[in-house]
Amino acid sequence: MTDDSSLSTVSNRGGAVRTLGSLRAATENSGLVALSSRLDELREWLQGDLAAIEGELDELCRGRQGDLAERAAAHLLGQRGKRIRPICALLGARFAGVSDDWRAREFAVASELVHAATLLHDDVLDEASERRGAPAARIIFGNSASILAGDYLLIEALGRVQRTDRGAVLTDLLATISQMVAAEALQLERRGTLDLSRAVYLEIVDGKTASLFRWALSAGARLGQLSEPQHAALATAGMALGRAFQLIDDALDLEGDPARVGKDLFADLAQGKLTWPTLVAIERDAGLLDELKALASDSNPTGAAWQGLLQRIRATGGIEAARQFALEQAREAEQALLLLPEGPARTTFQAVLSAAVNRTA
Ligand code: IPE
Ligand code: IPE
Ligand code: MG
Ligand code: MG
Repeated sequence: MTDDSSLSTVSNRGGAVRTLGSLRAATENSGLVALSSRLDELREWLQGDLAAIEGELDELCRGRQGDLAERAAAHLLGQRGKRIRPICALLGARFAGVSDDWRAREFAVASELVHAATLLHDDVLDEASERRGAPAARIIFGNSASILAGDYLLIEALGRVQRTDRGAVLTDLLATISQMVAAEALQLERRGTLDLSRAVYLEIVDGKTASLFRWALSAGARLGQLSEPQHAALATAGMALGRAFQLIDDALDLEGDPARVGKDLFADLAQGKLTWPTLVAIERDAGLLDELKALASDSNPTGAAWQGLLQRIRATGGIEAARQFALEQAREAEQALLLLPEGPARTTFQAVLSAAVNRTA
């Protein structure tokens, strides 16, 4: 079953269909049949909001294509992503008993815009050539335009959150963006050194990725009436989901199907960036370090050289260790959710967790 065929009646909007479809396919592939059929029931529940969010993003693409920054931003927004952060914002609100609330939709759109901004900047830092299966904005419009495009999207996101008149949520978003910047800076500082500790890896991932998942869930939930322990549990679940998500991203960078991943493979190693799979691999096979250094300094390594390295990393079990760690994080998130009311939000969140660890894109 393809992603789209299972949900072809839901909506004409590609993004909403793909988001729910990939969740469903991922749960089904992992043997969670009961959960995947439950997702069929849940699709209408979120579909209205998701379609509205796609509409907002489409409008941003179409309506404001004036200057170079806007055109570069529109290029990325026009290539649809998985929309996992907007789903988190909607689920946060639903956990707190809030549905059909324009402010939850604004938080959802803002989470996607902040994410898109960081992708535009990240692709400049990582010298990436492909994003979402298309040339990265920096390839078409240049690095400078990509940076401005990211700035434009950040302002747009902050403005949307400001309009909801929820000061605490805006303050939290400012702190989150600041954490994301600090994490990317730390990663940049460590680039090429190839001696990352587990603790520093987690510090980077918590800042660059998990913090935005946490913000999205928490922002939505602030619209309703959860107790402080429930808010804390949601924050824990968001951080754990974000870690799981990045760990799988790291694994896919090494062994993903290029046609599905839609971005350059081996990008982390080519940039001298150690990730969980590679740092575990080096712990288990110290001789790998010299090979990694040689490849990172080679300006044009062959496909065969990457494949040889991949086999050696695989042999250490480093990639499997990253996948196992992602599963542990997903279980930690599930555990945290036990404090929240049972119901469709919890079931959908479990499906999001399952999709995050079983995804191939
Ligand atoms: C990519 O995020 C950046 C990471 C934090 C790993 P996604 O994998 O959510 O990217 P899109 O939005 O689907 O393209
Ligand atoms: C995540 O790290 C980047 C952001 C949170 C912006 P990566 O560098 O691994 O993300 P991809 O692989 O380029 O999407
Ligand atoms: Mg990158
Ligand atoms: Mg990556």
